[in-house]
This record gives sequence, C-alpha cells and structure tokens, in this order.
Amino acid sequence: MDIDTSALFAPIVINGHTVKNRLSVAPMTRITATEDGRATETMTRYYERFARGGFGAVITEGIYTDQAFSQGYVHQPGMTDEVQANAWKPVVSGIRAHGALAIAQLMHAGAISQSNRFRDTTVGPSAIQPKGEQMAFYHGKGRYAVPAAISDEQIADVVTGFAESAARAIGIAGFDAIEIHGANGYLLDQFLTDYANTRSDRWGGTTQNRVRLILETLKAVREKVGAEVPVGVRISQGKVNDYGHKWADSERDAEIVFGSIADAGVDFIHVTDFEAWQPAFAPGGPSLMRLAKQHAPKAAILANGSLHNIDRAVAALDDGADVLTIARGALANPDLPRRLSERATLRDFDPVILGPIANIKDVELAM
Ligand SMILES: Cc1cc2nc3c(=O)[nH]c(=O)nc-3n(C[C@H](O)[C@H](O)[C@H](O)COP(=O)(O)O)c2cc1C
Repeated sequence: MDIDTSALFAPIVINGHTVKNRLSVAPMTRITATEDGRATETMTRYYERFARGGFGAVITEGIYTDQAFSQGYVHQPGMTDEVQANAWKPVVSGIRAHGALAIAQLMHAGAISQSNRFRDTTVGPSAIQPKGEQMAFYHGKGRYAVPAAISDEQIADVVTGFAESAARAIGIAGFDAIEIHGANGYLLDQFLTDYANTRSDRWGGTTQNRVRLILETLKAVREKVGAEVPVGVRISQGKVNDYGHKWADSERDAEIVFGSIADAGVDFIHVTDFEAWQPAFAPGGPSLMRLAKQHAPKAAILANGSLHNIDRAVAALDDGADVLTIARGALANPDLPRRLSERATLRDFDPVILGPIANIKDVELAM
C-alpha cells in the first residue's frame, strides 16, 4: 500500500480527552448480551480486540436506556440499572487497557423496536407505521408494528432515560464518553424525520421543532455527566428502514440540525452516510461531514461510511472529518490500525460473519 497514512495517526483532543489516532470502531449491534441485557464475557473479548488492534476509540453498539419502550432487539445490552451498568465494567476495562477511548452509544428504538421484554407495543412521534421490514439478522420478521403516538409525559421519561443511563455509563461502568444515537431511524431520528413525525406540538412541524428532542436529550445528558465528559450525537439522513432518505430542505436543514446541536454544547458529532465522501444532497455539493464541520466548527466531527477505503479515509480528514469510524472494515480487520502502520494488507469484509444472526461468532474472537 503506498498511501501516506500518517495523518490517521495524529492524536486529537476531544473535550480534554486525548484520542491517540483518528481511527475509531463504529457502533455495531451484535445482540450478544444476556436475555436481561447484561454485557457478556464474549462481548468483553470482542471489544478488547479492537483496542488491542490499535483503534484510538471504540464506540459500543446501541445500548437501550430505560425499562419502558427503548429496547429494540432481543439480547441487546442495556444501561437501565446498576446490574446492567456493572456488567459493562469488564468491557470498558478491556478497551481502556490498550489506551483506547471507550464511548457508550445510548439508543432508544422507538417505532422500529423489534423485541422488548418490558413492553408489547411500541411508541413513536406519531401513530404511523414505519417504512421497511424488520431485520432478520436481529430475529425480526415482517413489517414493524404501528406505534402509539408518544405523550409529553413519556417524552420526558425518554429524556430522563438517556440522562440516567449516561450517568450510569460514566459513573458505574467507567466509560470515557457518551454518544447519543440520533441517527439511522431510531426514536430521536424518527422525531427529526418529516414523514414519521406529523405532530403539531412543539416537537413537530418545523425542522427546529423536530430536532428539539435531540437537543433536550443532549442537554439532559450534559447536566447529568458534567462539563468534562465528552458527549456527542450521531446524525444521518439514511435509516435502517429507509436507506435513501434525504432531508427535505437539504443544506438549510443541515444548517439547523448541526448548528443547533453545536449551540447546545456538543463535543462531537458523528455523521454517517453510505459513502462518507459523497455529496449529501445535489451532485457536486458538500458531503455531510463537510456540512457538519461548517455548522459546528468547534465540535470534533466523526465521519462514517465505507471508510475502510483508506484513500477515502485520509481524504476525509481534509473534508471536515476529524476522526473516521469504521464498521464492516473493523469486523474484517479488528487490528486495522496496526495493519495500516505495518503496511499489511487489509482483509475484505465477509458478510457471513453477520449471518444468519448478527451475534458475535467464535471465528471473530479467533481473528
Ligand atoms: C452489524 C451492524 C450493526 C450495526 N449497529 C449499529 C448500532 O448499534 N448503532 C449505530 O449507530 N450504527 C450501527 N451500524 C451502522 C454502522 O455503525 C455503520 O454506520 C455502517 O456499517 C456503515 O459503516 P461501514 O461502511 O464502515 O461499515 C451497524 C452496522 C452493522 C454492519
């Protein structure tokens, strides 16, 4: 490989925390927790390999935040009480032992929940059946249920769930940082999405209203974890149940979304697209990572999407990204940073790892 990858190995400081390089593992749900949402030994071994392989940061899979409507998948891990928080301790120690930053991704599945041991029904911004079909590799089948329109009181509970889970993730489990999942079609993104949110109250209508739940969640998390903990938000247009979605007001929406998240005091914004370098809207226009940097210049920008293409990863650092997050490429190469620094070849991702069910496989742990 003859690309100059040295830029990927420059450290960066995010809200006082040094990340040793620009390569992070992207969040990946692997449904390998116990039935009651405790992280397992297998997960400890799985996550530890990425840190040992040289990644500067590891973002966990989406962790559910309350014992009401947040759980999305059977065997998904939670952060809803002390027992679940304690179960994360060995995972966090394994990541930190190799000098990587441990970031907990907190998520509420909302209307696209496929399995929830606390509730038989789902909630969303409005009682509208989600597009698409449930994911078979997470044990799903058929269409999503029609959610009930979430009440104001339940919205307050959602925010509290995120804030208290963040406090447990930092205070009990020992994570370094929090990522709020505002992307990919889950509850916070359902609020942001015009066709999923037809509310006429302060949570619906304009883009500014539709982004409000993300902002309120961010503020509540910040209040609980304090000024010194890096707190970020993940944002996308595409969704697991609607890959091609685009914001109706394109660059104006990007300005409102990223600008208001910046104003609410975010430390990092994690943007994701199928190919991070592609124009976010019209051909020839700026990428989502460029727009995020433009409207949130003080935040670190984490960019995701097919960046196992290392040429593109290096180039992304000149297109608004500060850190690159890698999902499939990290499954294929849990030691991707080490391979790059030793100029070893990268392995191609083999989808067999994720089938028929996306749980962590023994073959991975042997990699
Ligand atoms: C098996 C799997 C599970 C995923 N789970 C999550 C998740 O829990 N949270 C999240 O924000 N993104 C999740 N993603 C999306 C990835 O973080 C990433 O955006 C996507 O794979 C594209 O990045 P890549 O091109 O590097 O693979 C998942 C992706 C895969 C392949």
